[in-house]
Parts: sequence; structure tokens; C-alpha cells
Amino acid sequence: MKKYYITTPIYYVNDKPHIGHAYTTILADTLSRFRDLIGDTSFFLTGLDEHGLKVQQAAEKNGVTPAVHCDTMAPAFIELWEKLNINYSDFIRTTEKRHIKIVQSILNQVYKNGDIYQDEYEGWYSISEERFITEKEVESGLFGQVKKIKEKNYFFKMSKYQSALIEKIESDELSIQPKSRKNEVLGFLKNDLSDLCISRPKSRLEWGIEIPFDKDYVTYVWFDALINYISAPKYLEDNKVFDLHWPADVHLIGKDILTTHSVYWPTMLMALNLPLPKAIFAHGWWLTDDKKMSKSLGNVVNPLMLIDEFGVDAVRYYLMSEMVLGLDATFSMDSFTRKYNSNLANDLGNLVSRVCTLVSNNFDDKIPSCITEDSELSERFSSIDIKEHLDHFKIDSLLNEIMSFIRSVNVYMEKNQPWKLVKEDKESAGNILYHAAEALRVAAIMLSPVMPEKSKEILTALGAKDLKLEWGSLQSGDKISKTDPIFPRIIQ
Ligand code: ME8
Ligand code: MG
Repeated sequence: MKKYYITTPIYYVNDKPHIGHAYTTILADTLSRFRDLIGDTSFFLTGLDEHGLKVQQAAEKNGVTPAVHCDTMAPAFIELWEKLNINYSDFIRTTEKRHIKIVQSILNQVYKNGDIYQDEYEGWYSISEERFITEKEVESGLFGQVKKIKEKNYFFKMSKYQSALIEKIESDELSIQPKSRKNEVLGFLKNDLSDLCISRPKSRLEWGIEIPFDKDYVTYVWFDALINYISAPKYLEDNKVFDLHWPADVHLIGKDILTTHSVYWPTMLMALNLPLPKAIFAHGWWLTDDKKMSKSLGNVVNPLMLIDEFGVDAVRYYLMSEMVLGLDATFSMDSFTRKYNSNLANDLGNLVSRVCTLVSNNFDDKIPSCITEDSELSERFSSIDIKEHLDHFKIDSLLNEIMSFIRSVNVYMEKNQPWKLVKEDKESAGNILYHAAEALRVAAIMLSPVMPEKSKEILTALGAKDLKLEWGSLQSGDKISKTDPIFPRIIQ
């Protein structure tokens, strides 16, 4: 069966990862766990982008070779992903042989087919973007340091594929989401597309993959990096494996790299006669004080500090629920605390304690019997369409629905007051508690992609052995176990 193939950008190793990088990676992890939960088999790729000018400059600054710099920086990412409970299927570094080999084969193939040619070009070059930019872009003043460069280079005939690309984006054969991003790309494609300069002379930049047909050049970092999405699942190496993965179901990215993914990459794939990814989803920025969080601004939030203080699942939950699909979100300790206390400590945590305490005090630690089916909660549960949310990458709204389901269990408890009822009619009180506990069981399973550890704690507290997402699987008589509060309140 074809895998549900999810990717993150491969991050530059010029600096340590921050909340922005953590966000995309947690999003991919959450999506991949949700896909598995609804019966797909996901494959989740992440990794590191290790070539190019930025990395070479960072290495120079640290007084080491680029290769040593990469080996020093890579563990910072791998360790953070471990701490964040990121369950990736593969981790690729562009300096690995398995990747370099494929990039060079692709260059040879595209060159042989006549889609790569050499030309002398004079134009404005942006140091920070590492690419030639147009006169218009220079005037925008958004590109920092620019300089005029005249040199011989290799070019990829990107322009040749412009109209085919427009058609595929318009028809959603390549679905760019959210809609605003699709429009942005189509707007960009209204102008004539130029060909893409895909080489850099070694005299100017040495740290890259050598162009196989001209050893005086290295490959432009983007032509190299994008190929990771197919080199990891063994393009040209193992057809069977490759066909099981490609096309990707979604490339998750931030909106900074929309053009490279929606224009450069699909045209490269067309030149290789390969199917395009099914979807590209570009999320917004994490901001601090209304500015984009970025390494160059020095206003980044260190995810490790948050994890140590509040636990990994609370951080994952906050990031996944706070950023609304497609929009920017502002990170603040205040909103973190508010969200944690109201959703996790109050709505969910208190409910777990309450149900467990009532079962413990009145039913000898055993889940009471379900005497009569009460459809109030089960109907609310069945109305949550997980797949529908996932198909549109709406993790935030899915979490909202799950939380609102949990609040309806609180309402159900308030309405039925099993703590009073138990004195007159123990069976009926037990029936109420059975339903509340079963609702908590399915809620915990639905939350497991976002909070894998806390979900397990809740299921253990409820004594739930059955992890099926089907109403009615909780067994009466199973033993609950008392725990400390799952989400202790943050005192401000
Ligand atoms: O662009 N808010 O790597 P990069 C949200 N190597 N997301 C953010 C963010 C923020 N403030 N800052 C970074 C590159 N990100 C290339 C990618 S892919 C073939 C090559 C996330 O280290 C977001 O996913 O600059 C963004 O697209 C990515 O980090 C850029 O990481
Ligand atoms: Mg960047």
C-alpha cells in the first residue's frame, strides 16, 4: 500500500534550531501520527540542508571546515527532535553519499535531455537569498546586501514548464494550501518565468555538490536540497521503494520558501518526468513582539527551556493549537500559560482527576457497568471528522473540536452530578461515570498524535487497555490507577 508521505523542509545547519523549526517538525509528526491513527501508513522525512554559502560562511566564522561545522551542528537538531518526541521515519543530510549520488545523476540526466545549458549572465545577486534577483526585487529593498555579478553558469530551462505548471496548480493537481498561498503563486506566475541558475563557480563557492559534467562548478544549494525529497525514498536506486512513497502527499513548509517549493521543484520534477507532490502546505510565522522570529533578528524562543519547564506535550499542544491555519501567530508566555491552564489543566486534567476519584471512592477502583446506552456523548464523538480536518491540514481546528468535545463531557458531569446521584442510585451514577470515562478514553486517543505521553498517562489512569478509536470499547471492571494531576496548573 502506498505510504502517506510527509516532509518538512531540511533546515540549514548555520545555526541552532528554534521554535519556528520545531513548529514545522511537530506539525509533520502530529500529522503523521494522526494519519496512522486513521489507518494510513505514514512515512515522515526530515533532515538537514548542509551545503551552500550560508553554511560555508557559518563555518568560516567558527574557524572550522564546513564538513566539521555540519557534524558539530547536526546533533543539536537530532537531540531536539528526540526531546520533542519526533518520530521521523528517515533523517537525511545532504552531505550523505546517498543524496550526492542522486543529485549528480539527475544533473547528468537533465543535461543530456537538453534542459540544462551554459550561458554568461550579468545580474544582481542577493547574498542572503543566495540567488540572482530581478531589477524589481532589487528596488524592493527587501534583499539586504546585493551585488552585480557577471559570470558563466549553468541554467535550468525552468521557463519551458511555466504554462504546464500554471495548469497543474490551477486544477489542484498540485494543491497549494491554504488558498491564499495558491493565489500568491499564481500571481507570481503571471510574469514570465526566467531560467534558473543552478551552478556556482568554485572560485566563489566551494561548499556544494560538484557539477558532474564540469568540475569548476558546484550545484546551487536549492537544486541540491529539494532533491532530498526523492533521494531519501531511493529514486533511481530502488523502484519498488520509490513507488511506495512518491509522489509525496504533502510538503510542509513555512511561507518563506513557497516559491522554491511551488515553482522550482515542480518544474524540476517535470524535467524528470516525475509526478508532482499532491500538496504543498505553507504555514505562517511565529512572531515575537510582532516580528518574525529569526536567527538574524536574535529574538528566538529556545524550545528546550519550555520543554524543561512545562513538559514536551504541553509545548506540542500549544504550538499545534495556537497557530491558526495559514496565519501568523505570536508566541508569548502569557498566551502559553493561558492556553495551558484553561485547556489542559482545567478542561482536561481536572476532568480526568474527577472521574478517577469518583470511580475510586464509589466503585472500588473499577470502571462501573454500562447499564443503558446514553448517546449524548457518543454522538458528539462520532461527529468529529478527523480525516476531513487532516485533508485540509487543519490541525488547529481539529484540536478545537476535540477540546470542545471534552468540555461537553464536563457539561455532562455537571448536568448529571454523579457525585450526588451515587447516594440514591448507584447504578445510574455508575452509568454516567462509565460514559464519561469512555469519552475520556476516546479523547485521549484522539489527542495522542499531539500529546503522545500525556495521552498514555490518561489511558493508564483510566485502566483502558483497548486503544481502538471506537465508542464502547472501555471494559467495565477494569481497574483505574490513581495518578498525580496530569497537568498541574501553572501558577503565575
Ligand atoms: O529555508 N515561524 O532552511 P531554514 C515559523 N534549508 N516557521 C519558521 C520560522 C518562524 N519564525 N522560522 C523558520 C531553509 N521556520 C532551507 C529549506 S527545503 C528543501 C530547504 C521554519 O533553516 C519554516 O518551516 O531557513 C521555514 O520554512 C523553515 O523553518 C526554514 O528553515
Ligand atoms: Mg531561512
